[in-house]
Amino acid sequence: MKARFSEKEFALLKDLLHIYEWGQRTLLTKLDIMHDDFRTFQESNPIEYIRGRIKSPESIAEKLRKLNVEITAENVKKHLNDVAGIRIICPFARDIHHLVDLLRAMPDVNILEEKDYVSSPKSSGYRSYHVILEVPVFYSGQVEHVVIEVQIRTEAMNFWSTLEHKARYKYQDHVPQHLCDELVVCADKIAELDNRMFLIHEIISLINQDN
Ligand code: GTP
Ligand code: MG
Repeated sequence: MKARFSEKEFALLKDLLHIYEWGQRTLLTKLDIMHDDFRTFQESNPIEYIRGRIKSPESIAEKLRKLNVEITAENVKKHLNDVAGIRIICPFARDIHHLVDLLRAMPDVNILEEKDYVSSPKSSGYRSYHVILEVPVFYSGQVEHVVIEVQIRTEAMNFWSTLEHKARYKYQDHVPQHLCDELVVCADKIAELDNRMFLIHEIISLINQDN
C-alpha cells in the first residue's frame, strides 16, 4: 500500500510546504543576485544554472515510511532536510568548492551540514557537493528557520546522476550488478572528462590573456 498522510496531517503539510517554498525563494533570490553579479561584474562565472524543487507529498510520505516514523507534518520538520531542494550546476568541478565558500560567506545563511561527494565519491560513483543549510523567513510576525538541501555539481555529474536515478527507480533500488559496474566506470570517465575540459578551458583563458 502507498504511504499517505491522513486528511488532518495533509492539511498541516500543505501549510508547511508554503513555508518551505518561501525559504527556497529566499535562497534562490540570494543565488540569483550572486549569479547576476558574476555575469555583470566578474571575469568568470562559476554558475551555469540554478534549479529549485519542492518534494511532492507522495515522496515525502514514502521517505517518512522508509524512516519508520509516523507520517505527520511534525515528523517532516523533524526528520527531512530535503523538502526544499536547490541544485546549482557549475561549468567545472573546480567551481563547486568556490561556490561552497560563497555559501559559507552569505549572511543570513546558516550551514548545518556538508557532504563532499566530489572529493570522496559514493561507491555508486555519485559525485556532488551537498550543503544542508537554513535561512530565516519572517511571516505572521515571527521568524522560522527553513532547512534546504543544496546540491552542487557539474553538468556531466548531473547527466550521470539523472540516468543512475532512473535506473534505481526502474529496478526499485535493485539495479543488476553489471549495470552498477558500468555506471561506476561511466562516473570515472565523466570525472576525467570534467578535468580534461577544464584544462582546455585553462589553455583558452591563457590565449585570451595574450591577446
Ligand atoms: P537521502 O538519500 O535523501 O535519504 O539522504 P542521505 O542522508 O542519505 O543523504 P545523501 O547526501 O546521501 O543523499 C541526498 C540526496 O542526494 C538524495 O536524495 C539524491 O538526490 C542524491 N544522491 C545521493 N546518493 C546518490 C546516488 O548514489 N545516486 C544518485 N543519482 N543520487 C544520489
Ligand atoms: Mg542517501
